[in-house]
Amino acid sequence: MKRWAAVIMLLYITGSTAVSAGDVPECAELLRNRCQSCHYLSRVCEHAGERSKRKWTATLERMVERRGAELNKEEQVFLVDCLQVPASDIIKECKK
Ligand code: HEC
Repeated sequence: MKRWAAVIMLLYITGSTAVSAGDVPECAELLRNRCQSCHYLSRVCEHAGERSKRKWTATLERMVERRGAELNKEEQVFLVDCLQVPASDIIKECKK
């Protein structure tokens, strides 16, 4: 049992880091897992890289407090940086 778990973990890790070296794969993953249940990512993508940190913070706070998105504080802070830059994996995700 334990060995299988390790193999699956390894597949998972190598699979996600294969995206591109030195990248932060968790950004796009958060978008896919936490934002798509209510709207298309295009809603997010059209503003990626075009909002200030403060504005993204306010947007995410609204999604969590008013709309019911599931992101804890750390994830919010993390995602604000992803969206403001925007991170390369977000650019990639948004091109899909
Ligand atoms: C529980 C449902 C729900 C989830 C989950 C959710 N949203 Fe939204 N989102 C909405 C609704 C409803 C609107 C339209 C009303 C509004 O703008 O508040 C919206 C609109 C938006 C907009 C366009 C409005 C604006 O401020 O430009 C952005 C950007 C956005 N969401 C980002 C996100 C991000 C990023 C996530 C993931 C962290 C997310 N949303 C997750 C419900 C949700």
